This record gives sequence, C-alpha cells and structure tokens, in this order.
Amino acid sequence: MMIDPIEQLMDEHRVIERAADILERILDNAKKSGELDINDLSSLIDFIKTFADKCHHGKEEGVLFPSMVEKGVPKEGGPIGVMLEEHDIGRDAVKRMSEAVKMIRNNEEGALNLLDKAVMDYTYLIRNHIQKEDSILFPMARNIYNESELIRIQERFNEVEGRLGEGVHEKYEELIHKLSIKYLGSDSGKIHHHK
Ligand SMILES: [Fe+2]
Ligand SMILES: [Fe+2]
Repeated sequence: MMIDPIEQLMDEHRVIERAADILERILDNAKKSGELDINDLSSLIDFIKTFADKCHHGKEEGVLFPSMVEKGVPKEGGPIGVMLEEHDIGRDAVKRMSEAVKMIRNNEEGALNLLDKAVMDYTYLIRNHIQKEDSILFPMARNIYNESELIRIQERFNEVEGRLGEGVHEKYEELIHKLSIKYLGSDSGKIHHHK
C-alpha cells in the first residue's frame, strides 16, 4: 500500500464533518422539542477536543505545516497562516460549547442560546476550513513531497497518534459511527482504519 499521510488527514476530515452534522442535529432537536441529551453532547465536545483538535490539528500544526514551511511555503500571509488562525477560532467556539454545557447542567439561564451560537460558529468554521485544506493546502502539500518524505511524515503522524494512546483513534471513530446512526439515521460515508 502506498503511504499517504495526506489521505489520512482527508479521511479524518470526513469523520469531523459527520460530527458537525450530528452536533447540528442535536441542537435542532433541542430547539424543537426542548430535549437535549447532555451526555451525547459532552461526548461530541470531547471528540472535538481530542480527535479533531489534539490529534488531527496536532498532526497539521505539529508535523505537516512546519514541514511545508521548511519546504518554502510561507507561514505568514499565506494559507498556512489562515489555517492556524482558524484552528484558534475553532478552539474558542469549543470553549464556549463547554461553558454552555456546564451552564445547562446547573440549569443556568441563557445556556441554550450560548450553545446555539457556539455550535453555529463551530460548524460553519470547520466545514469551510476543511474545504480549504482539501482543495488548496493539501493538493499543494502533495506536490512538494517525494516518497521518502511522505513516509517520514507518516511516521511522525503515528507518533502523534501514539501519544494519544493505543486504540483512542478507533474509539472516537466508533463514537461518531454510533451517534450517526442515532441522530442521522444512517452511517453514510466510509471510515478507514489505518492499522
Ligand atoms: Fe486544519
Ligand atoms: Fe484538517
């Protein structure tokens, strides 16, 4: 099998997009029926913090982007700078989601509004962000590496996964699979396993 770390990032994008769909559905349900499964919501926020941010953004920020910069892609004023900024904006939205969950658990007023705004901000941002990486940044990355450099990047991605712990990646994919069936009524789309 050809080693393709870029393809791996794109596979992760599909899982993150699915999480965004589920998040929106949970919010929609809450607004329509007033019922909110706070545990599912917390699991999704945990997924975003761990799988999407620590693991996926960890690979981008810790491995891919710096190596692209080394290859001469400018960091400031170009797509990499924009991607880094967007990761931070996403983190802010996720922080607000966590805050809203805390407020909901304490029956505090205004919690649903805060949650609604944070979810809208996050889902809008992340879909847009993913689209830019898939269509602009990743094709650029594909053009600058040779086979042995790709292998090296894959090794370093594996180290990021390793720090997370054995089976953690799969555990989160399984969570999104389960929540897809529960909230979207299907599990459309493929999830690859890399081990
Ligand atoms: Fe990114
Ligand atoms: Fe990404």
